Amino acid sequence: MNDFDPSVMDIDHGYTLNWSGKSPSGGEAGAGDGSAPAFKIPRIAYGTFELSGEEAETCVISAVEMGYRLIDCARFYGNEKQVGKALAEVQTSVPREQLFVQSKVWNDRQIDGTVRGSLEETLRDLQLDYLDIFIVHWPVEGHYLDTYEQILGFIDEGLVRFAGVSNFQVGHLQSLVDRGYPLPAIDQMEHHPRMQDNDTLGFCRENGIVYEAWSPLGRGGSLSSVDPVIAQISNDHGITPAQTILAWQEAEGIIPLPRSKNPEHMLANAASLAVELSSDEMAKMESLNRHEYLEPAVQPSNFGDVLNGLSSHFD
Ligand SMILES: NC(=O)c1ccc[n+]([C@@H]2O[C@H](COP(=O)([O-])OP(=O)(O)OC[C@H]3O[C@@H](n4cnc5c(N)ncnc54)[C@H](OP(=O)(O)O)[C@@H]3O)[C@@H](O)[C@H]2O)c1
Repeated sequence: MNDFDPSVMDIDHGYTLNWSGKSPSGGEAGAGDGSAPAFKIPRIAYGTFELSGEEAETCVISAVEMGYRLIDCARFYGNEKQVGKALAEVQTSVPREQLFVQSKVWNDRQIDGTVRGSLEETLRDLQLDYLDIFIVHWPVEGHYLDTYEQILGFIDEGLVRFAGVSNFQVGHLQSLVDRGYPLPAIDQMEHHPRMQDNDTLGFCRENGIVYEAWSPLGRGGSLSSVDPVIAQISNDHGITPAQTILAWQEAEGIIPLPRSKNPEHMLANAASLAVELSSDEMAKMESLNRHEYLEPAVQPSNFGDVLNGLSSHFD
């Protein structure tokens, strides 16, 4: 792992985003400010959930200094002001077009019809002129199609380069097609050894949608009691269980979004990009699937029932 080259986290080593490139009014997507390498997304992200205060700022600065270029944000995380300070600071050494910043619109803003206001607050707090991807955080029934259409419009305005979704299963994605919308550039889903949604993953692969793994380490749960299969693979490669899990996701062509406050963990997570697992090890990792959501009450298929309890404003 000593020979790990952080440049593999750069945008130009990333996946190509397969996007039809048209918003409903016919504008070209993906232009941004015109200078960014088009249609690429880095292969690993730094997740910002549950980072707060000054720590959020210092963690994001450290992440970019280590080579992370894809930063996963959300209005819901309540820390975009701190993340924005970090993004402003790192741009003294890393050009904006080398960063890939994604954020999400939360449920309440879909329901009360203030998606544009939410995007404006995100851009203000992140101190950015445009987002690389703006994501529908959850498919709020009766609203998510309109939210998605608005995001397509923001592409025309140069406020957003690509449209993304999160927690969208096959039926939700199909409903975008039925409305005549282009499929999203990415779908961000809960994904860790015990929760693998192979139907949605398969649909995304068939349709060129990049799959991102949220809670890739099971929010740390996959590490507190390590499955013997993961322990064995880690032992055989001389790596940590976290690295085994991330290397498995990366070999699947999935972008993991690990979150860590610990610089050693952040470096180790990045170095997982240099690990190669055998096809036998990959099959063993896939066999750990138990369809176990971290929060069974909060999942795409029953999301409508719990929505009210999740709604939240930050300003
Ligand atoms: N779209 C959505 O609905 C959604 C939902 C949830 C999360 N997300 C995104 O996904 C990101 C990641 O998910 P998450 O924050 O829930 O959890 P996660 O990344 O699966 O796990 C985070 C936990 O793992 C630990 N950890 C990280 N690297 C480690 C390592 N190398 N060795 C040992 N422990 C390690 C961290 O502790 P240390 O700090 O001590 O390293 C932390 O306790 C979020 O930050 C967010 O960006 C999206």
